[in-house]
Amino acid sequence: MSFKEQIQRRRTFGIISHPDAGKTTLTEKLLLFGGAIQEAGAVKNNKIKKTATSDFMEIERQRGISVATSVLAFIYKDKKINILDTPGHKDFAEDTFRTLTAVDSVIVVVDVAKGVEEQTEKLVQVCRMRNIPMIVFINKLDREGKDAFDLLDDLEQKLGLSVTPLSFPIGMGYDFKGIYNIYEKNINLFSGDSKKNIEETIAFDSLESTELENIIGNKAAEELRDNLDLVNGVYPPFDKESYLKGQQQPVFFGSALNNFGVRELLDCFIEIAPSPRAKKAEERLVEANEKEMSGFVFKIHANMDPKHRDRLAFIKIVSGTFERNKPYLHVRNGKKMKFSSPNAFFAEKKEIVDISYPGDIVGLHDTGNFKIGDTLTEGEALHYKGIPSFSPEHFRYINNADPMKSKQLYKGIDQLMDEGVAQLFTLELNGRRVIGTVGALQFEVIQYRLEHEYGAKCTYENFPVYKACWVQAEDPKNDEFKEFKRVKQKFLAKDKRGQLVFLADSQFSLQMTQQKYPSVKLHFVSEFD
Ligand code: G4P
Repeated sequence: MSFKEQIQRRRTFGIISHPDAGKTTLTEKLLLFGGAIQEAGAVKNNKIKKTATSDFMEIERQRGISVATSVLAFIYKDKKINILDTPGHKDFAEDTFRTLTAVDSVIVVVDVAKGVEEQTEKLVQVCRMRNIPMIVFINKLDREGKDAFDLLDDLEQKLGLSVTPLSFPIGMGYDFKGIYNIYEKNINLFSGDSKKNIEETIAFDSLESTELENIIGNKAAEELRDNLDLVNGVYPPFDKESYLKGQQQPVFFGSALNNFGVRELLDCFIEIAPSPRAKKAEERLVEANEKEMSGFVFKIHANMDPKHRDRLAFIKIVSGTFERNKPYLHVRNGKKMKFSSPNAFFAEKKEIVDISYPGDIVGLHDTGNFKIGDTLTEGEALHYKGIPSFSPEHFRYINNADPMKSKQLYKGIDQLMDEGVAQLFTLELNGRRVIGTVGALQFEVIQYRLEHEYGAKCTYENFPVYKACWVQAEDPKNDEFKEFKRVKQKFLAKDKRGQLVFLADSQFSLQMTQQKYPSVKLHFVSEFD
């Protein structure tokens, strides 16, 4: 197969949802279609449950499992599909944001009864900002839920999407009869025991056919015709170009648990979803079909086995082919590196591969050379954009609880921050270290890992911060900026990359500061133009 064909057959995507909407179940059904797993339940444990807050071993165990399921790859109808895991738990949202830099499209799963939920809103917003093509799957149609049109409204109003349904439910919950596939023009009937079988479909050239009444009954047939008339009147026809630009989002209905509507979703997905796209580096736009290899680190995972402390860095290949034992330039530190055992991921396994293509994820063993956002190339100094830090939600001073182990503590903090577990801010005034996290759970994870992996002990102390804002001075030499730095010295810190950050203690003080120093721009994200 040619290099070009290899690129065109790849689909690298993420499934995003609020916890419990059915992401894991859907992932599993997709893998079943690909023949990548033999039975249901194989990826079931792929989530970190909040109940485990105080049970560190449980967190570790679950993290261990999530390494194995970070990337799930399989072949379906000759397409190479890479699903990147995106933790739904909000404490790990930052991990998900970063993973979204490595996907070419996403599937959004929404619970039919709950509609759009908080975590869906946040994640979809990130995808919208980046114009990532999205398909929506409304799940759990076997249960009573909201009216289909209300749900479509919800998607438009709460998520700001421009939707068009490509399938439509016939009944719901107890009365759920099946799904009309607008894209393929056929009906898929639901029967209670379809759990393992792939349903047979009935093609309809015209919905006016009286055959419809025979199959789903008079009332349902009339309702379906009315609903489809409404769909035609209200929603624009599906337009692939608009979908690819992130301007239109097709919607499917189904039930992942009952394997219903999943094949329709997958068949449409492989046809319309993009193959690996060009990616913007700071220097230029890099096309997937360029000959020279380039890729970037979007995730680092610590090894859970205490005897092997090395980590696994996940690289998304953007262009060219990644080959085993070939030297590549680590752009940040200027070193050439060779990798003798790059891992590729298949279903739940990882194995050493000789060659990987754009869209693939390669896992590289790392002894501390990589940070999230690092770029590998064949020599060109490229820096991939789009892996920003977001303002954390929780902030605490971190103190050394064992003065004999300060070296271990600082090494540990350093490495955990490289992995992206949390963010470190060093105060300008006194050099004290402040840890910022998205969720409270991370403080416990950090404390536990410092002790068990680095032999260091830490304690925390409250530090009330409302938001961390990255500072951009219109003119670093002007008096206003000097004045800002002098007056706000107590609230200024450097992040890990050395960027200046203002730690606002309240929304009020943030507003006042913005008003008082208009030429000093404050951003909630570390990347800005
Ligand atoms: P998540 O990864 O998005 O967090 O969700 P997950 O797939 O784990 O699904 C959450 C719950 O919803 C699970 O039930 C799952 O069985 C159920 N579910 C998923 N799809 C459907 C569906 O189409 N219909 C119905 N009725 N339920 C669905 P659970 O009781 O929390 O877990 P389990 O005990 O079944 O594993």
